[in-house]
Parts: sequence; structure tokens; C-alpha cells
Amino acid sequence: MSSYVTRRSQLETYFDRTAVEAWSRLTSDAPVSKIRATVRAGRDAMRATLLDWLPADMTGLRLLDAGCGTGALAVEAARRGATVTAIDVSPTLIGLARERLPEIAGAGSIDFRVGDMLDAGLGRFDHVVAMDSLIHYQPADIVRALAELGARTDGSVVFTVAPRTALLTLMHAAGKLFPKADRAPAIVPITEGGLRRRIARAPALERFAVGRTRRINSGFYLSNAIELTNGRSSPAGERR
Ligand SMILES: C[S@@+](CC[C@H](N)C(=O)[O-])C[C@H]1O[C@@H](n2cnc3c(N)ncnc32)[C@H](O)[C@@H]1O
Repeated sequence: MSSYVTRRSQLETYFDRTAVEAWSRLTSDAPVSKIRATVRAGRDAMRATLLDWLPADMTGLRLLDAGCGTGALAVEAARRGATVTAIDVSPTLIGLARERLPEIAGAGSIDFRVGDMLDAGLGRFDHVVAMDSLIHYQPADIVRALAELGARTDGSVVFTVAPRTALLTLMHAAGKLFPKADRAPAIVPITEGGLRRRIARAPALERFAVGRTRRINSGFYLSNAIELTNGRSSPAGERR
């Protein structure tokens, strides 16, 4: 998995240093440009979708927020009673998440950690969520990561990937106009069909089925939510 390790280290540099200011602002209530406002709205809709696919009452359930960033999703899950482990490779973003952590009423809690989402030492979970934290990895690494996470999950794994569309390809090309130092590590788009085939071929994901999927498209934000359900019949296998 050397491509995984290389990319993780690039992402650490990017989210911990290069983009930390922009990311801090985007994930706050502070005013942002019109373009970034579309991204913020898209990310809010994506977070709501992923949370909607998790149980409404998470009391006593363990959730891994894999690549939690500044922790907004973890906070909502904890408010539903979940025992959340929220991990990110960026110490600065974890620091911000800890600073922003509101009082959680009820049984829920969050353990913020700096490290790799695939660390087996984190233990077992009822659900795993990976919002926009796998989108920079190669398809083979995404599926290997899902397999590792799935092996430690008793319920569902909900995650996002970047859909491959002509527009995204164009935006990618536009992104290359920025100076190299300011550029994010490339997002690696993947078709839903291609991802489904890879998941179906992965022996370690045998007990999982693709459940709900949903594309969120808001201005400069474009991401596909996908649910992997474990053993149980998929809630509808629907496409919404
Ligand atoms: C686009 S941000 C999304 C953050 C958060 N999930 C959200 O939606 O607000 C991607 C995050 O994934 C983290 N990340 C990427 N690869 C990781 C890995 N292997 N282990 C832990 N965190 C990772 C990055 O540091 C970054 O904070």
C-alpha cells in the first residue's frame, strides 16, 4: 500500500499546513466567497445525508469518523448518543476540532485522535463514516481501505467518492491553473460502476452490499455518497 502511504503524507501536509486556514474558515460560520459558499452548502447537504443513513438513536453505538477534519459530523453523531472515535492525520485540524467541541448533552462522547484511519488499534465499530476523506486516494487504495474498515465494522460503512464527470475533469484542469504550492493533492474521480465492480471483486468485502447512493452537486462541490451494508438486507437498495 505504498501509494496509500505516500498520498496520506501529502494529505497531511496539505490539510495540516497549506490549506489549514482555508479549511478552518470553510468549516466555520465565517463569511466565505460565493464559490466557497457553494462548497459549504454541498458539504452541509452531504453531512446531512450520511447522518441520515446512520441510526437516529445511536446510544451505545460505536462510530469511527475516519478523516474527521474539524469534527462537525462527529459532534452530530455524539449528540445522537454515539461513542465516537474521530481520527485525522492532521494534528492542526484535530486541535481545531477539540477547540470547537461543544458541550454534548446525554450519553454521547467523542475521542479525537491524531493518526491513520486504518489503525487497527482503534478497535471495532458499529458504523464507520468517511466523508470526503478517501476522495484523494487511488481506486485500488479506496477499496483496500474499505476492506480494512469493513473488517472491523459490525454495521454499515458510509463514505464518499468523487464521481467521474466531464465537468469534474474540466474543474480539475482549471485547478491546474493555480500555483503548484497552493494546489490540493488531486482528487481521484471514479465511476460508480467501476467502484461497484471493485467492491464486488474484493473478497474482504464479501459480506457487504452496496446500499443507498446519492450524488450531491452544489456549485463547486460534487461528491457521491455510498452506503455499504453488512450482511443485512439493504434498506432499499435505492438510488435517491
Ligand atoms: C476533505 S477533508 C474532510 C474532513 C471531514 N470528513 C469533513 O467532511 O469535514 C479530508 C480529511 O481526511 C483526512 N485524511 C486523509 N487521509 C487520512 C488517513 N489516511 N487517515 C486519517 N485522516 C485522513 C485529511 O487530513 C482531511 O482532514
